[in-house]
Amino acid sequence: MKKTFILSGLLVLGLLALSACGGGEQAGENQGGQKAAADASGLTQEQIEKGIGPITSVTLGPIDDALAAKGAELFEVKCTACHKLDKRYIGPPLGEVTARRTPEFIMNMILNPEEMMQKHPVVKELLAQYMAQMANQSLTEEEARAILEYLRKVEAEGGSSQP
Ligand code: HEC
Repeated sequence: MKKTFILSGLLVLGLLALSACGGGEQAGENQGGQKAAADASGLTQEQIEKGIGPITSVTLGPIDDALAAKGAELFEVKCTACHKLDKRYIGPPLGEVTARRTPEFIMNMILNPEEMMQKHPVVKELLAQYMAQMANQSLTEEEARAILEYLRKVEAEGGSSQP
């Protein structure tokens, strides 16, 4: 009697452990293990580079000061609660973000942070590191583009000027 009790207890534990593992692995396994390291995430190379969201291509010209000024205002209102230019805050410093990410990645992060956090390996890593979620600020594509211009200007001027 006692023995069966212990045995069924073990069985339950075993099942729990099994289901826990199964859940954790699902995300990475749906590709059938065919394509190795590059996209264990299940994303295409393009999605890795450009992020996931509405922006698939951005054409950059010389820095547009008027657009950057508009972006600076938006940045102040919508982003500085969590980001500084030159140091870690709630989120990563953004003064040099245009040097480490593509323009498309940056705009998709602004416009579609939920999916980026869920699916993009780089952002998942940041999420684990910063332990805070980036908020969707419901900006338009034009507004996100203006912020990108501002961040380009900051980077061009050394990465950490102003607020
Ligand atoms: C509620 C806090 C919060 C707000 C508001 C916020 N972010 Fe973030 N952001 C984060 C966090 C935290 C991360 C790191 C990824 C994560 O944990 O989601 C991040 C990541 C990013 C990244 C990726 C950085 C990298 O190194 O790749 C960019 C770009 C970014 N944010 C831009 C912005 C912009 C632009 C705004 C304003 C429109 C903004 N964020 C508003 C918290 C925030």
